Order: sequence, then C-alpha cells, then structure tokens
Amino acid sequence: MMRSPLVAGNWKLFKLRAEAAAFAADLKGGLSSAAGVGIAVCPPFTSIDVLATGLAGSGVGIWGQHASAAESGALTGEISMGMLKDAGATGVLLGHSERRQLFGETDAALADKVPAALAAGLLPVLCVGETDAERESGATNEVLARQVREGLGKLSPTQADIVVAYEPVWAIGTGKTATPELAQAAHAWIRSQLAERFGEAAGSIRILYGGSVKPDNAATLLSQPDVDGALVGGASLEAASLLAIAAAARR
Ligand code: PGA
Repeated sequence: MMRSPLVAGNWKLFKLRAEAAAFAADLKGGLSSAAGVGIAVCPPFTSIDVLATGLAGSGVGIWGQHASAAESGALTGEISMGMLKDAGATGVLLGHSERRQLFGETDAALADKVPAALAAGLLPVLCVGETDAERESGATNEVLARQVREGLGKLSPTQADIVVAYEPVWAIGTGKTATPELAQAAHAWIRSQLAERFGEAAGSIRILYGGSVKPDNAATLLSQPDVDGALVGGASLEAASLLAIAAAARR
C-alpha cells in the first residue's frame, strides 16, 4: 500500500515568534528540495499563528505539541483541540514521551484525546515508545501493543486517518538512534497492532520514527519498509536541517 513520506519537526520549548517567522521564511524558500515529502512543524502554542501565516499555501502541516480532550471548562493552563485549530494548527502530537514522563499523560487520557482531535478536524499523531528499562527487560512489544491498543481504544475501525510516531525513549535527545533493523522491527510490530483495530487500512497509516534523527542518519532509517517518515526534535530547529532530513525521505 502506498504511503507518502512525512517528516515533522518538534520544536519542544524553543523559539520566540520572531524566530518562528524567520524559520517559516527559510522553510518555504527550500521546500522544492523536498518535493513529494509531507512536512509538518510542531511549534509552541504561541507560534502556531505565526507559522500559519508564514507558511500559508505551502502545504506544510502545523501541529500542536499537546492538547486537552475537553472543549472548554475550568482547566487552567490547558488548550483545546478547537483552539489549536482556530489558531491555524492542522494536527496535534499526543502522548509524546515527555508529556507521559514529565506531565503524567496516561493511555486512558490519550484514548479521549485522539477522537477529540479528529472531531475538531486535526490530524492526531499518537506517540509511543518504550523506555530503556522496558527494552532491557524484554517488554518492548508488550508496551507498544498496550500504548497502541489503549491510546486508539475509542476509535472506530473506520477512523484510520491518524499518524503514529515510534519514539524509543532511550533514543530521544541522547544521540543514540535505533538501528534501522530495530526500528523496522518495532514499526512492523506496531503496524500489526494497528491491523487488529483497522484491518487493511493499517497499511495506509504512516508510522514515523523519532529519536536523534539527523540529516546524516535519516536515509538509512527511512529506507526501511515500515518507516514512513521521521519525528525530529533537536535537528528540526534549523529549516535547512529539517529540509535535509525531508530530502532523505524522498522515494
Ligand atoms: P530528538 O527528539 O530528535 O531531539 O531526539 C525527538 C522527539 O522528541 O520528538
């Protein structure tokens, strides 16, 4: 089944609005080098509208890094899916390991967030991944299966318009990348779990790899059959670096 490659940059807690505007101009100027590859950027909330303006008409996705499943309410500090959409976002990262580990995001909460994103017209990007200890103890497949099963637990079998990101926690921001073989094995396992919910449509769901992806290691990772793109942290802060990774994803 045909899956077009997708490369997304997760800025985390970086960049002011002026920096986001400069990035948008640089990215737009270089997009032709990555023709045929979908690109998305995940800025802090305060720069979503800046990217929406600066990248208007470019086809580049703009994803929030987190959101609430609630539409409104007494929830100080939260942001809703509808608010992200209203500010110009097209998608949202859900369950990034930093949200899970540092902010207590649970699979149960994610189960509500994924359909809430779809209902608001946002592309949900569910992030999954095992910790170092889980891999060492042989629990990787079990952890990934649980995160997929529970995180997507409230979707109907026809709601396959989602993206999954596999990010082994031990590879995030550490400079340690999964080997291409290990990434492929995890992606194939995740796809088999997606097939349990979505059947054949699992073949159309893009699974991105994340964890210390750089311009010089992207090509080998992205050449694996079930690795459909990348979720890039540190190397996404410069437009040229994100574009180089996207160029490596061209098929
Ligand atoms: P990294 O981050 O590329 O800096 O390892 C990836 C991520 O957390 O999405």
